[in-house]
Amino acid sequence: MTPIKECLINKSTKINPIWLMRQAGRYLPEFREIRKLNPDFIRLCLNQTLAEEITLQPIKRFGFDAAIIFSDILMIPYGIGQSVQFKKNFGPSLGDLELDKLQNITKDDFTDNLSSVYKLLSNLKNSKALENKDLIGFVGAPWTLLVYMVNKVSPKNGLPDVFFKDEILISEILNLLDRFIKIHIENQIKAGATIIQIFDSWAGLIKSDFDKFLYNPTLSLVNYVKNLGVPVICFPRGISDYVKFTKIVNPSMINIDYNVDPESLIKSLDIPIQGGLDPKILLSNKENLKKQINKYLNIFKDHPYVFNLGHGILPETEVDMVYELVETVRNFK
Ligand code: CP3
Repeated sequence: MTPIKECLINKSTKINPIWLMRQAGRYLPEFREIRKLNPDFIRLCLNQTLAEEITLQPIKRFGFDAAIIFSDILMIPYGIGQSVQFKKNFGPSLGDLELDKLQNITKDDFTDNLSSVYKLLSNLKNSKALENKDLIGFVGAPWTLLVYMVNKVSPKNGLPDVFFKDEILISEILNLLDRFIKIHIENQIKAGATIIQIFDSWAGLIKSDFDKFLYNPTLSLVNYVKNLGVPVICFPRGISDYVKFTKIVNPSMINIDYNVDPESLIKSLDIPIQGGLDPKILLSNKENLKKQINKYLNIFKDHPYVFNLGHGILPETEVDMVYELVETVRNFK
Protein backbone atom coordinates (compact mmCIF):
# COMPACT_ATOMS: atom_id res chain seq x y z
CA MET A 1 0.00 0.00 0.00
CA THR A 2 1.26 3.50 -0.80
CA PRO A 3 2.26 5.76 2.13
CA ILE A 4 -0.72 8.09 1.58
CA LYS A 5 -3.16 5.17 1.46
CA GLU A 6 -1.61 3.81 4.69
CA CYS A 7 -2.57 7.10 6.24
CA LEU A 8 -5.92 7.52 4.52
CA ILE A 9 -7.28 4.01 4.66
CA ASN A 10 -5.37 2.27 7.44
CA LYS A 11 -5.31 5.49 9.51
CA SER A 12 -1.63 4.98 10.25
CA THR A 13 -0.03 7.62 12.45
CA LYS A 14 3.48 6.17 12.10
CA ILE A 15 4.32 7.92 8.85
CA ASN A 16 3.85 11.41 7.51
CA PRO A 17 3.63 11.14 3.74
CA ILE A 18 4.29 14.37 1.89
CA TRP A 19 3.37 16.16 -1.32
CA LEU A 20 2.72 19.86 -2.01
CA MET A 21 -0.13 21.64 -3.72
CA ARG A 22 1.17 23.22 -6.94
CA GLN A 23 4.36 21.17 -6.61
CA ALA A 24 4.64 21.14 -10.41
CA GLY A 25 5.02 24.81 -11.16
CA ARG A 26 6.79 28.09 -11.36
CA TYR A 27 9.14 27.81 -8.34
CA LEU A 28 11.02 25.12 -10.32
CA PRO A 29 13.64 26.46 -12.77
CA GLU A 30 13.09 23.42 -15.00
CA PHE A 31 9.37 24.29 -15.23
CA ARG A 32 10.09 27.94 -16.04
CA GLU A 33 12.43 26.77 -18.79
CA ILE A 34 9.62 24.80 -20.47
CA ARG A 35 7.06 27.54 -19.80
CA LYS A 36 9.22 30.17 -21.50
CA LEU A 37 9.02 28.21 -24.73
CA ASN A 38 5.28 27.51 -24.35
CA PRO A 39 3.37 30.78 -23.89
CA ASP A 40 -0.06 29.16 -24.31
CA PHE A 41 -0.78 27.57 -20.92
CA ILE A 42 -3.80 25.48 -21.98
CA ARG A 43 -1.85 24.07 -24.91
CA LEU A 44 0.97 23.21 -22.54
CA CYS A 45 -1.49 21.32 -20.31
CA LEU A 46 -2.66 19.41 -23.39
CA ASN A 47 0.87 18.56 -24.53
CA GLN A 48 1.23 15.01 -23.20
CA THR A 49 5.00 14.77 -23.47
CA LEU A 50 5.68 18.06 -21.72
CA ALA A 51 2.86 17.64 -19.18
CA GLU A 52 4.30 14.26 -18.23
CA GLU A 53 7.76 15.72 -17.83
CA ILE A 54 6.42 18.60 -15.69
CA THR A 55 4.36 16.24 -13.51
CA LEU A 56 7.49 14.22 -12.75
CA GLN A 57 9.85 17.18 -12.18
CA PRO A 58 9.06 17.58 -8.46
CA ILE A 59 9.07 13.80 -7.95
CA LYS A 60 12.57 13.49 -9.37
CA ARG A 61 13.89 16.31 -7.22
CA PHE A 62 12.14 15.70 -3.92
CA GLY A 63 10.74 12.16 -4.00
CA PHE A 64 7.27 13.23 -2.89
CA ASP A 65 4.79 10.46 -2.09
CA ALA A 66 2.36 11.54 -4.79
CA ALA A 67 2.42 13.12 -8.20
CA ILE A 68 -0.42 15.52 -9.04
CA ILE A 69 -1.02 15.73 -12.77
CA PHE A 70 0.03 18.90 -14.51
CA SER A 71 -3.33 20.31 -15.54
CA ASP A 72 -5.66 23.00 -14.20
CA ILE A 73 -9.09 23.29 -12.61
CA LEU A 74 -10.08 25.54 -15.54
CA MET A 75 -9.74 22.65 -18.00
CA ILE A 76 -13.41 21.89 -17.22
CA PRO A 77 -14.79 25.23 -18.50
CA TYR A 78 -12.39 24.80 -21.43
CA GLY A 79 -13.67 21.26 -22.05
CA ILE A 80 -17.31 22.37 -22.13
CA GLY A 81 -16.53 25.18 -24.54
CA GLN A 82 -15.87 28.42 -22.66
CA SER A 83 -12.56 29.89 -23.75
CA VAL A 84 -9.80 30.21 -21.12
CA GLN A 85 -6.59 32.19 -21.39
CA PHE A 86 -3.81 32.80 -18.91
CA LYS A 87 -2.36 36.26 -19.12
CA LYS A 88 1.08 37.02 -17.82
CA ASN A 89 1.05 38.73 -14.39
CA PHE A 90 -2.73 38.71 -14.45
CA GLY A 91 -3.95 35.12 -14.10
CA PRO A 92 -6.83 33.40 -15.84
CA SER A 93 -9.26 35.22 -18.09
CA LEU A 94 -12.36 33.44 -19.41
CA GLY A 95 -14.38 34.23 -22.52
CA ASP A 96 -18.10 34.98 -22.83
CA LEU A 97 -20.40 32.52 -21.13
CA GLU A 98 -22.81 31.20 -23.77
CA LEU A 99 -24.98 28.87 -21.75
CA ASP A 100 -26.89 27.47 -24.76
CA LYS A 101 -23.66 26.45 -26.41
CA LEU A 102 -22.26 24.88 -23.24
CA GLN A 103 -25.48 22.98 -22.63
CA ASN A 104 -25.24 21.38 -26.05
CA ILE A 105 -21.92 19.72 -25.45
CA THR A 106 -22.03 15.95 -25.14
CA LYS A 107 -20.06 13.64 -22.88
CA ASP A 108 -18.13 12.43 -25.93
CA ASP A 109 -17.23 15.97 -27.08
CA PHE A 110 -16.03 16.84 -23.60
CA THR A 111 -14.00 13.64 -23.26
CA ASP A 112 -12.49 14.29 -26.69
CA ASN A 113 -11.55 17.85 -25.79
CA LEU A 114 -9.69 16.63 -22.71
CA SER A 115 -8.40 13.34 -24.07
CA SER A 116 -4.76 14.42 -23.56
CA VAL A 117 -5.38 14.77 -19.83
CA TYR A 118 -6.57 11.17 -19.66
CA LYS A 119 -3.73 10.00 -21.86
CA LEU A 120 -1.33 11.78 -19.51
CA LEU A 121 -2.72 9.80 -16.60
CA SER A 122 -2.56 6.47 -18.39
CA ASN A 123 1.03 7.13 -19.46
CA LEU A 124 2.02 8.05 -15.91
CA LYS A 125 0.21 5.12 -14.34
CA ASN A 126 2.95 2.69 -15.26
CA SER A 127 5.84 5.09 -14.82
CA LYS A 128 8.79 3.63 -12.88
CA ALA A 129 9.19 6.99 -11.15
CA LEU A 130 5.80 6.52 -9.47
CA GLU A 131 6.30 3.09 -7.98
CA ASN A 132 4.64 2.97 -4.55
CA LYS A 133 3.37 6.53 -5.03
CA ASP A 134 -0.09 7.90 -5.64
CA LEU A 135 -1.18 9.63 -8.80
CA ILE A 136 -3.56 12.42 -7.87
CA GLY A 137 -6.26 13.55 -10.26
CA PHE A 138 -8.23 16.66 -9.37
CA VAL A 139 -11.19 18.89 -10.11
CA GLY A 140 -12.34 22.34 -9.09
CA ALA A 141 -15.41 22.31 -6.85
CA PRO A 142 -18.66 23.55 -8.45
CA TRP A 143 -18.60 26.81 -6.48
CA THR A 144 -15.04 27.76 -7.49
CA LEU A 145 -15.69 26.88 -11.14
CA LEU A 146 -18.96 28.84 -11.06
CA VAL A 147 -16.99 31.82 -9.76
CA TYR A 148 -14.51 31.67 -12.64
CA MET A 149 -17.16 31.02 -15.29
CA VAL A 150 -19.39 33.92 -14.27
CA ASN A 151 -16.81 36.39 -12.93
CA LYS A 152 -14.34 35.44 -15.72
CA VAL A 153 -11.27 36.47 -13.68
CA SER A 154 -9.95 35.63 -10.20
CA PRO A 155 -12.17 37.38 -7.64
CA LYS A 156 -9.18 38.77 -5.77
CA ASN A 157 -11.22 41.70 -4.45
CA GLY A 158 -14.35 39.67 -3.73
CA LEU A 159 -17.46 39.18 -5.85
CA PRO A 160 -19.70 42.04 -7.03
CA ASP A 161 -23.41 41.83 -6.04
CA VAL A 162 -24.34 41.39 -9.70
CA PHE A 163 -22.65 37.99 -9.57
CA PHE A 164 -25.65 36.57 -7.69
CA LYS A 165 -28.31 38.41 -9.71
CA ASP A 166 -29.31 35.76 -12.23
CA GLU A 167 -30.41 32.85 -10.04
CA ILE A 168 -31.59 30.77 -12.97
CA LEU A 169 -28.25 31.10 -14.72
CA ILE A 170 -26.47 30.11 -11.52
CA SER A 171 -28.52 26.98 -10.99
CA GLU A 172 -28.20 25.96 -14.65
CA ILE A 173 -24.42 26.29 -14.41
CA LEU A 174 -24.30 24.36 -11.14
CA ASN A 175 -26.26 21.53 -12.80
CA LEU A 176 -23.97 21.56 -15.80
CA LEU A 177 -20.91 21.51 -13.56
CA ASP A 178 -22.19 18.62 -11.45
CA ARG A 179 -22.56 16.59 -14.62
CA PHE A 180 -19.23 17.43 -16.26
CA ILE A 181 -17.13 17.40 -13.09
CA LYS A 182 -18.37 13.84 -12.54
CA ILE A 183 -17.45 12.90 -16.09
CA HIS A 184 -14.00 14.39 -15.58
CA ILE A 185 -13.61 12.46 -12.31
CA GLU A 186 -14.72 9.19 -13.89
CA ASN A 187 -12.40 9.64 -16.87
CA GLN A 188 -9.43 10.41 -14.62
CA ILE A 189 -10.05 7.38 -12.43
CA LYS A 190 -10.45 5.09 -15.45
CA ALA A 191 -7.16 6.44 -16.81
CA GLY A 192 -5.27 5.75 -13.58
CA ALA A 193 -5.83 8.43 -10.91
CA THR A 194 -5.57 6.74 -7.50
CA ILE A 195 -6.88 9.69 -5.45
CA ILE A 196 -9.09 12.66 -6.34
CA GLN A 197 -8.67 16.07 -4.75
CA ILE A 198 -11.47 18.66 -4.96
CA PHE A 199 -10.14 22.23 -4.90
CA ASP A 200 -12.62 24.81 -3.62
CA SER A 201 -10.17 27.69 -3.60
CA TRP A 202 -12.81 30.41 -3.30
CA ALA A 203 -15.09 28.68 -0.76
CA GLY A 204 -14.22 31.48 1.68
CA LEU A 205 -16.26 33.90 -0.46
CA ILE A 206 -19.53 32.08 0.26
CA LYS A 207 -21.46 34.21 2.75
CA SER A 208 -24.92 32.61 2.60
CA ASP A 209 -26.75 29.69 0.96
CA PHE A 210 -24.08 27.26 2.11
CA ASP A 211 -26.26 24.26 1.23
CA LYS A 212 -26.68 25.41 -2.34
CA PHE A 213 -23.11 26.53 -3.03
CA LEU A 214 -20.96 24.44 -0.73
CA TYR A 215 -22.43 21.41 1.04
CA ASN A 216 -24.83 19.90 -1.53
CA PRO A 217 -22.62 20.20 -4.62
CA THR A 218 -19.52 18.96 -2.80
CA LEU A 219 -21.34 16.09 -1.12
CA SER A 220 -22.67 15.00 -4.49
CA LEU A 221 -19.10 14.75 -5.84
CA VAL A 222 -17.64 13.13 -2.73
CA ASN A 223 -20.27 10.37 -2.82
CA TYR A 224 -19.62 9.90 -6.51
CA VAL A 225 -15.87 9.42 -6.03
CA LYS A 226 -16.36 7.10 -3.06
CA ASN A 227 -18.74 4.94 -5.10
CA LEU A 228 -15.97 4.51 -7.65
CA GLY A 229 -13.81 3.09 -4.83
CA VAL A 230 -11.26 5.91 -4.75
CA PRO A 231 -10.34 8.15 -1.78
CA VAL A 232 -11.31 11.81 -2.07
CA ILE A 233 -9.65 14.83 -0.46
CA CYS A 234 -11.51 18.13 -0.03
CA PHE A 235 -9.90 21.55 0.21
CA PRO A 236 -12.58 24.14 1.00
CA ARG A 237 -10.12 27.00 1.39
CA GLY A 238 -11.08 29.82 3.70
CA ILE A 239 -14.34 28.50 5.16
CA SER A 240 -14.94 29.30 8.81
CA ASP A 241 -16.24 25.93 9.98
CA TYR A 242 -14.13 22.97 8.91
CA VAL A 243 -15.77 20.73 11.53
CA LYS A 244 -19.26 21.30 10.18
CA PHE A 245 -18.06 20.90 6.60
CA THR A 246 -16.34 17.61 7.42
CA LYS A 247 -19.34 16.23 9.30
CA ILE A 248 -21.72 16.99 6.43
CA VAL A 249 -19.51 16.19 3.45
CA ASN A 250 -17.38 13.45 5.04
CA PRO A 251 -14.47 13.24 2.58
CA SER A 252 -11.73 10.59 3.02
CA MET A 253 -9.36 13.36 4.10
CA ILE A 254 -9.62 17.10 4.63
CA ASN A 255 -6.94 19.59 3.54
CA ILE A 256 -6.84 22.55 5.93
CA ASP A 257 -5.76 26.07 5.06
CA TYR A 258 -3.27 28.08 7.10
CA ASN A 259 -5.91 30.00 9.06
CA VAL A 260 -7.19 26.83 10.72
CA ASP A 261 -6.04 26.18 14.27
CA PRO A 262 -4.93 22.54 14.02
CA GLU A 263 -4.95 21.95 17.76
CA SER A 264 -8.59 22.73 18.26
CA LEU A 265 -9.51 20.95 15.03
CA ILE A 266 -8.19 17.51 15.99
CA LYS A 267 -10.22 17.58 19.16
CA SER A 268 -13.39 17.52 17.07
CA LEU A 269 -12.34 15.57 13.96
CA ASP A 270 -11.27 12.00 13.56
CA ILE A 271 -10.77 11.81 9.80
CA PRO A 272 -7.25 12.05 8.30
CA ILE A 273 -5.99 15.59 7.83
CA GLN A 274 -3.66 17.07 5.22
CA GLY A 275 -1.82 20.37 4.94
CA GLY A 276 -1.92 23.59 6.91
CA LEU A 277 1.52 25.18 6.74
CA ASP A 278 1.42 28.74 5.41
CA PRO A 279 3.30 28.73 2.08
CA LYS A 280 4.77 32.11 3.05
CA ILE A 281 6.86 30.35 5.72
CA LEU A 282 8.90 28.95 2.83
CA LEU A 283 9.90 32.54 2.02
CA SER A 284 11.38 33.09 5.51
CA ASN A 285 14.47 31.22 6.77
CA LYS A 286 15.38 27.60 7.44
CA GLU A 287 15.26 27.89 11.19
CA ASN A 288 11.76 29.31 11.18
CA LEU A 289 10.69 26.79 8.56
CA LYS A 290 11.84 23.85 10.70
CA LYS A 291 10.14 25.28 13.76
CA GLN A 292 6.81 25.69 11.98
CA ILE A 293 6.97 22.24 10.37
CA ASN A 294 7.72 20.61 13.71
CA LYS A 295 4.78 22.46 15.21
CA TYR A 296 2.39 20.77 12.76
CA LEU A 297 4.06 17.37 13.03
CA ASN A 298 3.93 17.46 16.84
CA ILE A 299 0.29 18.42 16.91
CA PHE A 300 -0.55 15.59 14.49
CA LYS A 301 1.74 13.02 16.14
CA ASP A 302 -1.17 10.72 17.01
CA HIS A 303 -3.45 11.63 14.12
CA PRO A 304 -3.29 10.33 10.52
CA TYR A 305 -1.62 13.28 8.80
CA VAL A 306 -0.32 13.92 5.29
CA PHE A 307 2.13 16.80 5.21
CA ASN A 308 1.22 19.55 2.72
CA LEU A 309 0.72 23.31 2.67
CA GLY A 310 -2.28 25.47 3.51
CA HIS A 311 -2.43 26.66 -0.13
CA GLY A 312 -0.27 26.23 -3.25
CA ILE A 313 3.48 26.74 -3.07
CA LEU A 314 4.39 30.31 -4.10
CA PRO A 315 6.30 30.92 -7.35
CA GLU A 316 9.00 32.90 -5.51
CA THR A 317 9.87 29.93 -3.23
CA GLU A 318 13.53 28.90 -3.35
CA VAL A 319 14.17 25.30 -4.24
CA ASP A 320 16.63 25.03 -1.36
CA MET A 321 13.84 25.70 1.14
CA VAL A 322 11.80 22.86 -0.34
CA TYR A 323 14.72 20.45 0.14
CA GLU A 324 14.90 21.60 3.75
CA LEU A 325 11.16 21.07 4.17
CA VAL A 326 11.26 17.53 2.80
CA GLU A 327 14.26 16.61 4.95
CA THR A 328 12.61 17.99 8.08
CA VAL A 329 9.41 16.05 7.47
CA ARG A 330 11.25 12.83 6.56
CA ASN A 331 13.52 13.02 9.63
CA PHE A 332 10.80 13.82 12.16
CA LYS A 333 10.60 11.24 14.92
O1 CP3 B 1 1.38 21.05 -9.18
C1 CP3 B 1 0.16 21.03 -9.18
O2 CP3 B 1 -0.55 21.26 -8.18
C2 CP3 B 1 -0.53 20.53 -10.45
C3 CP3 B 1 -1.15 21.41 -11.31
C4 CP3 B 1 -2.13 22.50 -10.91
C5 CP3 B 1 -2.11 23.76 -11.56
N1 CP3 B 1 -3.22 24.44 -11.16
C6 CP3 B 1 -1.09 24.19 -12.52
C7 CP3 B 1 -0.93 25.63 -12.77
C8 CP3 B 1 -3.22 22.49 -10.05
C9 CP3 B 1 -3.67 21.42 -9.07
C10 CP3 B 1 -3.90 23.73 -10.23
C11 CP3 B 1 -5.16 24.05 -9.52
C12 CP3 B 1 -5.72 25.39 -9.65
N2 CP3 B 1 -5.74 26.21 -10.75
C13 CP3 B 1 -6.47 26.03 -8.62
C14 CP3 B 1 -6.78 25.44 -7.28
C15 CP3 B 1 -5.65 25.56 -6.33
C16 CP3 B 1 -5.33 26.96 -5.87
O3 CP3 B 1 -4.21 27.37 -6.06
O4 CP3 B 1 -6.22 27.59 -5.27
C17 CP3 B 1 -6.87 27.29 -9.12
C18 CP3 B 1 -7.67 28.35 -8.38
C19 CP3 B 1 -6.43 27.38 -10.46
C20 CP3 B 1 -6.65 28.48 -11.43
C21 CP3 B 1 -5.36 29.09 -11.83
N3 CP3 B 1 -4.43 28.48 -12.66
C22 CP3 B 1 -4.86 30.36 -11.50
C23 CP3 B 1 -5.55 31.35 -10.57
C24 CP3 B 1 -3.63 30.51 -12.16
C25 CP3 B 1 -2.76 31.71 -12.30
C26 CP3 B 1 -2.21 32.29 -11.09
C27 CP3 B 1 -1.43 31.32 -10.22
O5 CP3 B 1 -1.61 31.39 -8.99
O6 CP3 B 1 -0.65 30.52 -10.74
C28 CP3 B 1 -3.35 29.29 -12.83
C29 CP3 B 1 -2.17 28.98 -13.63
C30 CP3 B 1 -1.39 27.76 -13.27
N4 CP3 B 1 -1.93 26.54 -13.00
C31 CP3 B 1 0.02 27.67 -13.22
C32 CP3 B 1 0.32 26.32 -12.93
C33 CP3 B 1 1.68 25.69 -12.83
C34 CP3 B 1 1.01 28.78 -13.51
C35 CP3 B 1 1.07 28.97 -14.95
C36 CP3 B 1 2.18 29.88 -15.38
O7 CP3 B 1 3.29 29.37 -15.58
O8 CP3 B 1 1.91 31.07 -15.58
